[in-house]
Amino acid sequence: MTAPSPSPDEAAASPSPDEATSPPDESVRPLERGLAVLRAMAADPSPRQRAGDLARETGLARSTVDRVATTLTRLGHLRSDGRDLMLTPRLMEFGNAYLASCGLPEALAPHASALADRLDESVSIAVPDEDGVRFITQAPRRRTMAVSFRIGDLLPAERCAPGALFATGWTEAERERRLTRRRTDPLDSRFPAAPKRTGAEDDREVEADFEDRVRAAREAGLSVDDQLIEPGLVAVALPVRGPSGATVCAVSVVSHTSRHTAPSLVEHALPHLRATVDAMEQTLRSQASTPPPPTDAVATFDSSLKEELGSGFLQSLARGLDVLRALGSRRGTMSLADTARATGLPRATARRALITLQHLGYAAAEPDGYRLLPRVMDLGFPRLSQLTFAQIARPHLAALVEQVHESASVAVLDGDDVRYVARVTASRIMRVDITVGTRFPAYATSMGRVLLAALPEQERLDHLSRVTPRRFTPHSRTTVPALSHALATAARDGWALVDQELEEGLCSLAAPVTDNLGRVIAAANVALHTSRGTPARIRDTVLPPLQEAARRIGDDLAVVSRFTGSRLR
Ligand code: PHB
Repeated sequence: MTAPSPSPDEAAASPSPDEATSPPDESVRPLERGLAVLRAMAADPSPRQRAGDLARETGLARSTVDRVATTLTRLGHLRSDGRDLMLTPRLMEFGNAYLASCGLPEALAPHASALADRLDESVSIAVPDEDGVRFITQAPRRRTMAVSFRIGDLLPAERCAPGALFATGWTEAERERRLTRRRTDPLDSRFPAAPKRTGAEDDREVEADFEDRVRAAREAGLSVDDQLIEPGLVAVALPVRGPSGATVCAVSVVSHTSRHTAPSLVEHALPHLRATVDAMEQTLRSQASTPPPPTDAVATFDSSLKEELGSGFLQSLARGLDVLRALGSRRGTMSLADTARATGLPRATARRALITLQHLGYAAAEPDGYRLLPRVMDLGFPRLSQLTFAQIARPHLAALVEQVHESASVAVLDGDDVRYVARVTASRIMRVDITVGTRFPAYATSMGRVLLAALPEQERLDHLSRVTPRRFTPHSRTTVPALSHALATAARDGWALVDQELEEGLCSLAAPVTDNLGRVIAAANVALHTSRGTPARIRDTVLPPLQEAARRIGDDLAVVSRFTGSRLR
């Protein structure tokens, strides 16, 4: 029987040659297409793409790309700016789902950090991803001159230390897969994070060298990278075994030839590295003996979107992505029944989504359920993990400015000052002259008051007794009782309005930005001329959209920082 040739609309782009096999009958086409678009956007070095280009790259019909883009935009995974499409921080939820369900960063990152501190060298953790090596934790030292790969980056096994360790356990078929990949992609174009190969290498030498290193890894139980991936970069890696004895990841100490030769790094790092691996394996054993708690329902897409957008909304794409996120709500595998329960989907629907994710290499079926695979990190994780706080905040400030037609900013507390980290100005004649990096005394500004109000009582009092309040205008509050009262009010209300205390004619309204634990980490504000209305009117009209923007910024920040660390330095 010959399969009917797919219409352009059905020929979703394949992520790699191994996945070029045709999808099973039950596979959900809109989910395949949605993931193909996300993968194509993530693989393109440009952060902005057009629907037409995506249609060309994925082989999907333009109308299909448009519907996928509408759906993904509405779900918050894409953002459009004119005709350009961009990935949003929210997309990192998928990579987070993998990292949470594999349980390794949570269990091992503290050990990696402690080792990095101890050796004063970078330490990374990587997992096997087919014939590649995927970084899942980085404990970098700033002074490292060599590149430090990003969380989610994939390297070819033969070009880094962990690869030879993982290859010691390969089957014949797995060895063959890598050789096929080397033949079909000699320049490693499928590994965007890897420095370009020149094509000048002697393939036979590369292969003989890899064989030698796999043999050495098998004999010595460790693997060394002497400038394989990058001139100057040296690394030594050890395998970390799970409770079953199988290698689950590798931990590497990474240095530079300006400090160490490969042998001197091994000598320097190995005793501590071995002790760290012992401690890591101990942690994994105790993690395995404490079963994860039962899963709660995950937040799923709002079904009113289907009514709102009609046929432009691909409900089965939205549901499939809910299933992907649901797999991240517990460590290890998740049964079909639990997946259906967590997403509120009928079993048959959840099952088809799982089959699709399995076909695309994002999940594996195991006897007791489905498990997410590191391939999920290909959905934009490495690039988005590099976003700064300002880059995360700016689109939300821009949306706020669009709504209220006034300038908006985000600031953090820095000593006794607020320091602006992002700002979007409204195109009005009257503009307050503030730029990123501008500082003001915290007590005199609305953002500062929101930030000070969140401090413990004693720190608030210490701050007020330390500073000498300046009389910027006749309206400025300059006494400790008056300022103390203003902070108590801000603490009670959860926002602050400062009316001409910093500058005559300027009114500013601020709301806190909180992290996932509800801690205030920054403040957002809108600044306006007093001619815009009474303080009461400004509060009524501006506070709700300001609070909404602050909430979105906090939500995005929580998604981005969950496994990649705080970006508030
Ligand atoms: C890294 O963490 O950047 C790293 C680790 C091992 C290598 C190369 C790079 O072999």
